[in-house]
Amino acid sequence: MDSKKKEILLHKKEQALLGGGADRIHKQHTKGKLTARERISLLMDPNSFEEVGMLVTHRSYDFGMNDQKIYGDGVITGYGTIHGRLVYAFAQDFTVFGGSLSETHAEKICKIMDLAMENGAPVVGLNDSGGARIQEGVNSLGGYADIFYRNTLASGFIPQISAIMGPCAGGAVYSPAITDFILMVKDTSYMFVTGPNVVKTVTNEDITAEELGGTSSHSQESGVAHLAALHDVDCIEKVKNLLSYLPQNCNEKTPPIPYEIEGDESRSGLDTIIPATTTQPYDIKEVIAGTVDRGSFFEIQPAFAQNIIIGFARLGGRSIGIVANQPAHLAGVLDVNSSKKGARFVRFCDCFNIPLWVLVDVPGFLPGKDQEWNAIITNGAKLLFAFSEATVPRISLITRKAYGGAYDVMNSKHIGSDLNFAWPSGEIAVMGAKGASEIIFRREIEAADNPDEKLKELEADYADKFAHPYRAAERGFIDEVILPKETRSKLLKGFAMLSHKKKKLPKKKHGNIPL
Ligand code: HXC
Repeated sequence: MDSKKKEILLHKKEQALLGGGADRIHKQHTKGKLTARERISLLMDPNSFEEVGMLVTHRSYDFGMNDQKIYGDGVITGYGTIHGRLVYAFAQDFTVFGGSLSETHAEKICKIMDLAMENGAPVVGLNDSGGARIQEGVNSLGGYADIFYRNTLASGFIPQISAIMGPCAGGAVYSPAITDFILMVKDTSYMFVTGPNVVKTVTNEDITAEELGGTSSHSQESGVAHLAALHDVDCIEKVKNLLSYLPQNCNEKTPPIPYEIEGDESRSGLDTIIPATTTQPYDIKEVIAGTVDRGSFFEIQPAFAQNIIIGFARLGGRSIGIVANQPAHLAGVLDVNSSKKGARFVRFCDCFNIPLWVLVDVPGFLPGKDQEWNAIITNGAKLLFAFSEATVPRISLITRKAYGGAYDVMNSKHIGSDLNFAWPSGEIAVMGAKGASEIIFRREIEAADNPDEKLKELEADYADKFAHPYRAAERGFIDEVILPKETRSKLLKGFAMLSHKKKKLPKKKHGNIPL
């Protein structure tokens, strides 16, 4: 090969690797951020990343842009492997025009998204961008829309993960919002539709970027972020860990990891978790951790709507999704946020063939004007709809309370669950014994010489009749009442029995989930 031609190529590649130059790379590092290339090399298995479109440049001429062309145009795109499996990725390069999105930058992202769709593999986006390339106007806006459109078509077909590792503002937030999971990095990332200056102008509210759309705001208050990372390295580790629970696309299952049988699989530690009195809280995560493969629980949205717990785990090496009421927070009640959180997760698992284990200890729906005005009706219905529609293997375990409408909603037999277990501590009724007695025995209580005594007596009678799982077991709504220590073994056998489950919903264009 002609050495001059080789030199030209090497020079171009060298330039591309420099991005926006040493000074801007230094600035990126002083902010505590890695560069796009450093992030990609941490994300992908060593030497597996192949870059696509390294020498692409923008096509704009206005504002002197003609003289400012940088190879790659602010985004690194390509494919590689993570834990040996094919993944497509893009990483916005803040050192090049602030990672802003030009027409060509968008084309590069669209190209790898199209490849990912055609080859059925996940897409990971590492976002770090000042938004629309201001010098390009509508060309940039069109580029965003091209990405949003692809995000939507890819939804439910391949897993899409967005890591926000810098600014993400304006309409740019909508690509991550359509993807399946959003991770944010503490202190260095933020997301908002309109920034603090616009907020000040429109509403006269003084607010910092961090408070408006920082990692804590979105992981605790809005629920927009699914995971919060301490720094870039932590964020990328979390992306890789998350991917390990997911299949490549909706036509595949997550490959199991090797699993060794643990004796008779009984877990006696589970026998002592439920407190003596039914109003006493306990941490449902102890039940989860005590049942699944050791150390395998990977919680999603841990700081948002903590009255419901969601996450992935492995059972006998196989990936499962978990939805659990959390009695340690607001008594595990269902409200607007927990219903939305649960519903979206159930739908994700159903899209990607991940079986569901649902743990139930729920006193009902949260009453009040705040809940009603924020549409607990519509939002509670989301969770009901999501479970009803899910065709993946579904197993429920009632650990304690399953009251009222929440009993039906939380993956009851009636809405298509495959196996329903209860512990002997299960209480399945329309409501708690005290509330129920106060309503149905009001006249007797009022007429009694000692109303308090009478209430206690009637309450005990009601509890005897209903505060247990046996009425439901007699009807077959509960398939088996099991000892806590048997839980793991029952789940292993149950999911194995359901592993070839094939269930089809009535043929239609699509359902109309109460959004
Ligand atoms: C072109 C941009 C840019 C943009 C930043 N830069 N944003 N270039 N278009 N949108 C350039 C800067 O000129 C600068 O170039 C370099 O990137 C780094 O920016 P700094 O301002 O020095 O960095 P920093 O102080 O960290 O501030 C980052 C920032 C700020 C907060 C993101 O740059 C900023 O406010 N940018 C504009 C954000 C914005 O309004 N975007 C449009 C939003 S509307 P040099 O050469 O000096 O290094 C939108 C609509 C999307 O995105 C609609 C989709 C439907």
